[in-house]
Amino acid sequence: MPYPDERMRRLRSCEAMRRLVAETSLDPAQFIYPLFVVHGRGVRERIGSMPGNCRWSVDLVGEEARRIARLGIGGILLFGIPETKDEAGSEAYADDGIVQQAVRAIKDTAPEILVCTDVCLCEYTSHGHCGLIDDRGRVLNDPTLEVLAETALSHARAGADVIAPSDMMDGRVGAIRLALDEAGFVDAVIMAYSAKYASAFYGPFREAVGARHALPVRLAPLQGQGMPCPYGDRRGYQMDPRASRQALREVEQDIEEGADIVMVKPALAYLDIIRLVRDTFDVPVAAYNVSGEYAMVRAAAGRKWVDRRAITMEILTSIKRAGADIIITYHAPEAARWLRR
Ligand code: PBG
Repeated sequence: MPYPDERMRRLRSCEAMRRLVAETSLDPAQFIYPLFVVHGRGVRERIGSMPGNCRWSVDLVGEEARRIARLGIGGILLFGIPETKDEAGSEAYADDGIVQQAVRAIKDTAPEILVCTDVCLCEYTSHGHCGLIDDRGRVLNDPTLEVLAETALSHARAGADVIAPSDMMDGRVGAIRLALDEAGFVDAVIMAYSAKYASAFYGPFREAVGARHALPVRLAPLQGQGMPCPYGDRRGYQMDPRASRQALREVEQDIEEGADIVMVKPALAYLDIIRLVRDTFDVPVAAYNVSGEYAMVRAAAGRKWVDRRAITMEILTSIKRAGADIIITYHAPEAARWLRR
């Protein structure tokens, strides 16, 4: 018998053969597409750092959601840009707040798509933190929980299917679950941003929502000098990129507090964390392919340095292969179209 006995290339001989033995597949039904909503009428405003993505006003967002639904995409994830930001982030929990209005509009126009809402204060606070702060700029955990629970409730009242807390305060999943149950929203699903890292990959998103310190998490000059945590730096609550065991504890706590789905975010620099969570727990795992990951692809493809379609499919496949069931991604509409053909 001539060497080699086993020829791995046999199963790679043609596309039909490769498809036959594929171990990973993508389904738009498991994609979630983030949508940004703003006040006003007739607004469809391009987001510079995220080509192909827009901020929508409530009168147009329903139609956009219908387009997304027709592509077979499973859900949308709503982010709101408020009229005004204040210390307490009060538009976050207003019944006529931007997200609450958008949920109602989408439920009217595109009832077949799942509506997920991001629950956090950072888009709504004048200081840009994900929680309430004291006069020295320190983020206050427990007082923030009440506001988050109130926000989640207002989303559920508007008709949201999935509540997605992204603030990283301790105990928020439990506080939200309790508030939802007490108000009778026992079927509202909680998708917790459980292992959310303090990441420079959120840069374009902060531009999209006009959050303070739009660009990358700063290596704040004031840190280490006994100064309060400067605005824009979320390392006091989001996870340190050097940690992986902590991710398991975060996920475990969220499941115990009532999370139905757990999330790892960002996705690409954290594929190992996705795998770890997948192997350790039995709940559905979502991965958030974040704004910076998207922007890098678009920027490089714009210069023809990479092939956009090929690299996008490879990226999404890698996230799936790492163990994610659900992928939250700005690539969703195009990827869904490419998967059809
Ligand atoms: C916080 C939130 C952020 C993202 C989702 N929810 C930003 C942050 O924590 O700074 C980032 C999403 C992305 O970068 O695509 N409300």
